[in-house]
Amino acid sequence: MSTWESSSALLKESHAPWDGQAVYNKPGRRPPQAAVGYHKAVERKLSVAVLGATGAVGGEFLTLFERRHFPVGGLRLLASERSAGKRLLIRGKEIAVVPVAPTSFDGVEVAFFSAGASRSREFAPPAMAAGALVIDNSSAFRMDPGVPLVIPEINAHAVGPKDRLIAVPNCSAILVLMAVAPLRALGRIERLVVSTYQSASGGGAALMRELREQTGEVLAGREPRAGIAPDPYAFNLFSHNTPINEAGYNEEEWKVILECRKILGATELKVNVTCVRVPVLRAHSASITIEFAGAAPTEDAVRSALAAAPGVRVIDDRAANRFPTPLLASGQDDVLVGRIRRDLSHPSAISLFACTDQLLKGAALNALQIAELALGLPQPPALPPASTPP
Ligand SMILES: NC(=O)c1ccc[n+]([C@@H]2O[C@H](COP(=O)([O-])OP(=O)(O)OC[C@H]3O[C@@H](n4cnc5c(N)ncnc54)[C@H](OP(=O)(O)O)[C@@H]3O)[C@@H](O)[C@H]2O)c1
Repeated sequence: MSTWESSSALLKESHAPWDGQAVYNKPGRRPPQAAVGYHKAVERKLSVAVLGATGAVGGEFLTLFERRHFPVGGLRLLASERSAGKRLLIRGKEIAVVPVAPTSFDGVEVAFFSAGASRSREFAPPAMAAGALVIDNSSAFRMDPGVPLVIPEINAHAVGPKDRLIAVPNCSAILVLMAVAPLRALGRIERLVVSTYQSASGGGAALMRELREQTGEVLAGREPRAGIAPDPYAFNLFSHNTPINEAGYNEEEWKVILECRKILGATELKVNVTCVRVPVLRAHSASITIEFAGAAPTEDAVRSALAAAPGVRVIDDRAANRFPTPLLASGQDDVLVGRIRRDLSHPSAISLFACTDQLLKGAALNALQIAELALGLPQPPALPPASTPP
């Protein structure tokens, strides 16, 4: 029996946890009505692959499939040779991780890629040739004019029925645009000034480990060992650790500029951005100033537009000094927005502060939403909040 078959068998044996009914069949629990309706609508199950299943983003898919009742019929977990033999525990059952190969996608209908740009470039063509819809979290194809770059709440219209490869935007671009795009209804946006405060999880499982270990070493009075970050990470922050171009911008900043323009279809949008890595384990934050073409909208209008925007939650309690934090955002699907205020230095500008769990909305959740959109799945029923600890 191939590992693929054994994975499918395990899923069956584990009573197809993905149909959601398993959770509700426990004594005393009844399926929510919305979930029952949803399952009728998505009776056909899909064969799914996750490339990068052992990574920080990949791991999120495994819980999201269940939380969003994604109709997984068979699941293929793919990673590098390093993970050969590893087994991931999914709802009490182990599924073997298999090193990726060009033939890994035979029979796969939807493939989620989260293993870096070079793996995407190598394996997206065979996956598409095998008939899979590829949703790619890497930067490999984002700026390809033929590839939709999609945040479903903002530019769902970019996905066409024939698209077989769809890119998930950079996590900081998603954070910024989820907070900014709803304000387009209040006036033409001319310029964004953004500073990010990016967590270790944005650099993957290894950077999270590094932050944890260095913090322990410093607290124990030891000199922390240098790791993948260019600077000491614990009790420190540093300019985003990606190469700097000749204009003086690092790769992350450049992605934010270009991807914001592509997603909004606004080639003239001016974006000034500084990306910084901070010693937060999970969830990115951003300070954003939005300049409008005319007078700035009122704070109340901004608050109302954001409160009505899907996927956004406003936390803006001036009296209690309570605003979004990365800890509040950790494990949450919504992007949190607050500190909504006039920019007193500019008559056309509004400032705000936003946080998101970028492993979710900045990566895996956005990817899954794209798949739901491309496959024409009905909106999943109301979901319990994720509860991943930071
Ligand atoms: N972290 C974020 O917040 C975030 C947000 C948006 C997009 N992304 C993108 O998502 C991707 C994954 O990021 P991550 O943070 O999850 O990184 P990660 O924690 O380092 O995980 C990387 C994954 O890729 C696999 N991989 C690495 N080299 C491979 C190879 N040669 N062949 C097959 N698989 C290989 C790893 O498998 P092994 O365990 O076997 O090494 C692991 O499963 C990247 O493209 C990243 O840019 C990340």
